[in-house]
Amino acid sequence: MNEKQKVGEKAADYVEDGMVIGLGTGSTVFYTLTKLGQLVQQGLSIKGIPTSLQTEQLARELGIPLTTFNEIDQIDLAIDGADEVNPDLHLIKGGGGALLREKIIAKAADTFIVVADSRKMVDTLGSFPLPVEVIPFGMEMTRKYLEELGGSPQLRQKNGSAYLTDNGHYIFDCSFQTITNPRDLEIDLNLIPGVVENGLFVGMADIVITLDLHKEIDINSRK
Ligand code: A5P
Repeated sequence: MNEKQKVGEKAADYVEDGMVIGLGTGSTVFYTLTKLGQLVQQGLSIKGIPTSLQTEQLARELGIPLTTFNEIDQIDLAIDGADEVNPDLHLIKGGGGALLREKIIAKAADTFIVVADSRKMVDTLGSFPLPVEVIPFGMEMTRKYLEELGGSPQLRQKNGSAYLTDNGHYIFDCSFQTITNPRDLEIDLNLIPGVVENGLFVGMADIVITLDLHKEIDINSRK
């Protein structure tokens, strides 16, 4: 069993009957979703709220019942992957392009669990280029403001065209090299008018499940 599968499946232990679950996006949480699909077949009653169209389709294939914000008051638990995790459990997310819905769902969740293989654990955030979701209109100006904050924005491409998010926006992948104050940068980025959201998740993760050299599974918790 690979690392992603181990940590992904472990997160399913936190899911209880009757819960509303935020369903993350990516290759690690894929294993959580697969496990949840099996548990649902065995009688577990949950409702999932997906962070992307990709996850929505996967959840349907796995038989996980879905819901929307129209039908619920709260999310009990959200489970998602990350691209980088620092020792304060601040994150970079959005490598898969789903950062906006991921952040909406993580914010709405009573508990937010991150599943991450050991390569995601870093001392300082920033080696992974920070995804910033932007409105296409005026993106040239938005790029300039991102550069003024110290980033090197690259417009994300897919099949030779600008990558479009599930929300119809573009993504600038912004290399910052070292992000020493993620809290301030998250705020500064979101003050740029053309920025919809950025992939810094500061103070949001309650639990990070990863692998440790000395232990099979390492659970880091803010609570
Ligand atoms: C999706 O937009 C991302 O935030 C993912 O959660 C993140 O990229 C982790 O993905 P993997 O589990 O595939 O590494």
